[in-house]
Amino acid sequence: MGDRAFRAVEVTPGIHWVGAVDWDVRDFHGYETSRGSTYNAFLITGRRNVLVDTVKAAFTEQLMQRIASVTDRVDVVISNHSEADHSGALPAVLEAFGPERLLASGAGVENLQAHYHGLRVPPEKVENGGTLTIGDNRFTFLETRMLHWPDSMFTFMPDRNILFSQDAFGMHMAGNHLFAHDCDPGVLRRESAMYYANILNPYSKLVANLISKVEEMGIRPHIIAPDHGPLWVAGTSAEPGWVVGLWKGWAEGAGRRSLVVLYDTMWGATGAMARAVAEGAAESGVPVRVLRAGLTHRSVAATEVLEAGALAFGSPTLNNGIFPALADHLEYLKGLRFHGRAWAVFGSHGWSGEAVPRLEKALEEWKGPKVADSVAVRFTPAEADLIRCRAMGVSLSKAVVG
Ligand code: FEO
Repeated sequence: MGDRAFRAVEVTPGIHWVGAVDWDVRDFHGYETSRGSTYNAFLITGRRNVLVDTVKAAFTEQLMQRIASVTDRVDVVISNHSEADHSGALPAVLEAFGPERLLASGAGVENLQAHYHGLRVPPEKVENGGTLTIGDNRFTFLETRMLHWPDSMFTFMPDRNILFSQDAFGMHMAGNHLFAHDCDPGVLRRESAMYYANILNPYSKLVANLISKVEEMGIRPHIIAPDHGPLWVAGTSAEPGWVVGLWKGWAEGAGRRSLVVLYDTMWGATGAMARAVAEGAAESGVPVRVLRAGLTHRSVAATEVLEAGALAFGSPTLNNGIFPALADHLEYLKGLRFHGRAWAVFGSHGWSGEAVPRLEKALEEWKGPKVADSVAVRFTPAEADLIRCRAMGVSLSKAVVG
């Protein structure tokens, strides 16, 4: 197929990775992607060639070259997820390779039509749970509604035991390693947590149900191939079961062992209170993360909150409200639905003092237990105030260890 700068990488015989590596991306709709990302697409060759997903539009040329390094023919495209990072190159692929069919879930058909008006090949709906033979390969489709879009679906190849899981079990991490077992396990865990916290957490009940359903169906993939980050292969140090187990734990709320103290400060008073809360919690050995909102990206804070059993929020009052940097985090975390964690709030004010009651009101909606009285002080906390903050930390840490 000629020499090219960008070439396909074999996953297993007859299945190639033909995606793109985005070393530069640092902002993924508000999520800080400090390690960049990959947009994975997969080419299955046989009597009929099948492409699973595409890449972000800006990386169309990489995708084209990688496909062309294997074949000049794509017969069928399967779109597991219509979000632009996986469908952006679709119109160009349809033009360049002229496939006969474009397959998607029912919602995927609607979303592709709404994204790309007048596609060269009209999308066709596949049956949820149905199996289609394309050439010499079989493909089973499983809708994963709201994980994390209405159109999301898995494609499973039962005879090859490989699951194309679109965003599920993925992470934002650029790199030259296709397989997770070639990556640093600590980084894999951190980036998996970050991805789950910032994309999937609102849908945790659905995640738990889906994992149970897949287990009930007897699907135990030899390879899980997500649309971002490395692939998980059975029999290696990075088993598919490892990442599935992590996701199951997060979905079920297991392993919430830390306290997050998220605060901001104007002249240092609320900061001093935050440190006193942390001191109290440290007494019991509970891991504590103290994060100043204005110095911490909201998606990093969300990742810490994922595995926290208790939260302390502290804010000074500015212009009769919550300090803006903390309000930003609060709104973001609310959207990600980190419900059910123990909480307490604190803050310093000069005269009006609205921040603490507003924090209380916001946290009450998260439906976790309030485990300590709020501590609100005028200007500088006295030693007695800091001792109350320390006691707050003790109460929060007890809520973590139970
Ligand atoms: Fe990677 Fe939901 O797109």
